[in-house]
Amino acid sequence: MAREELLSPAEEPDDVADLLDEPGLRPRTLTEFVGQTELKGHLGVMLGAAARRNEAADHLLFAGPPGLGKTTLAYIIAAEMGSNLNVTSGPALERAGDLASILSKLEDGDVLFIDEIHRLPRPVEEVLYPAMEDFRIDVVLGKGPAARSIPLDLARFTLVGATTRTGLITGPLRDRFGLVARLDYYEVDDLQSIAMRAARILEVDIDDGGAWEIARRSRGTPRIANRLLRQVRDYAEVERDGHIDSDVASDGLAFFGVDELGLDKASRAVLDSVCRRFGGGPVGLSTLAISVSEPTETVEDVYEPYLIQQGLLMRTPRGRVATPAAYQHLGMSPPPAIDTAPQPGLFDG
Ligand SMILES: Nc1ncnc2c1ncn2[C@@H]1O[C@H](COP(=O)(O)OP(=O)(O)O)[C@@H](O)[C@H]1O
Ligand SMILES: [Mg+2]
Repeated sequence: MAREELLSPAEEPDDVADLLDEPGLRPRTLTEFVGQTELKGHLGVMLGAAARRNEAADHLLFAGPPGLGKTTLAYIIAAEMGSNLNVTSGPALERAGDLASILSKLEDGDVLFIDEIHRLPRPVEEVLYPAMEDFRIDVVLGKGPAARSIPLDLARFTLVGATTRTGLITGPLRDRFGLVARLDYYEVDDLQSIAMRAARILEVDIDDGGAWEIARRSRGTPRIANRLLRQVRDYAEVERDGHIDSDVASDGLAFFGVDELGLDKASRAVLDSVCRRFGGGPVGLSTLAISVSEPTETVEDVYEPYLIQQGLLMRTPRGRVATPAAYQHLGMSPPPAIDTAPQPGLFDG
């Protein structure tokens, strides 16, 4: 092994989920991209106008929980513009020079995708400001008192950023994007189309009912719909005759530990911990994360948003609180304190 490698071992892939995605399932055009109709409309107009003017499109920021299509959109944008795509990520850009060297190699119209852009170190982020605004960076030559900075013109490129939460993006960075789009959880019928599309590509024998059952339990997330489809396919092939209808899907999902709401073991563990170990909360995020042996960021970005969206969990200033629906879902009776049945008011009567 080269000495260089020993000194700086290759980064662990941050988004292992990306590596587990079936590459053939990623939509390649806006038309193939299911759902998010309003966003697709905006993108169609922005990209169309840029193409007519023969210019690079405005910088775009996509925010939303993992698996909703942010990376896919970056690929689609480059493809629709007929441009080269350069891919990197916030944590991979450790020094200002790392980013400067990528930027200086871009050609006119190129798309630069920075995944997890909220994890850019601040000095690196500062290089981005003039690059995004004026297509210019200042390169610092030399060190110490002899250092001098010389301006370097860049090609006109389009930056596409992705982040799990817009709240993590600093104001100055956010303001430099021409479009900030939030990706929301998908509706069940969109997820059904996504499951059907994936089934066609993977040559899985499934009917509408089977796809609906998978869609319903995908936690609003295309990546999960695709994953559940593959699990149910395996189940149908080994335990049944290969055909997937709603019963087979339901049995297959139960077999793999996906419950009625689509919660898997890990999300249920979060809920279970709040209810059972912490008496319904409030419990602080870091305490909760330790109790389920997950990084706080994973609990906050991956598990919580869906639990909150489903009305099972609440974020309060004092910590996370389980709702009565959470107890009901876990088959427990809620403690009296959070019973939301109308209480006789102190001053009534
Ligand atoms: N709108 C969509 N239509 C069809 N498939 C989608 C869509 N969005 C995501 N997917 C599927 O889900 C997978 C994960 O999407 P990805 O873009 O990697 O999510 P993110 O970058 O937001 O975590 C993709 O490989 C693709 O197969
Ligand atoms: Mg991604």
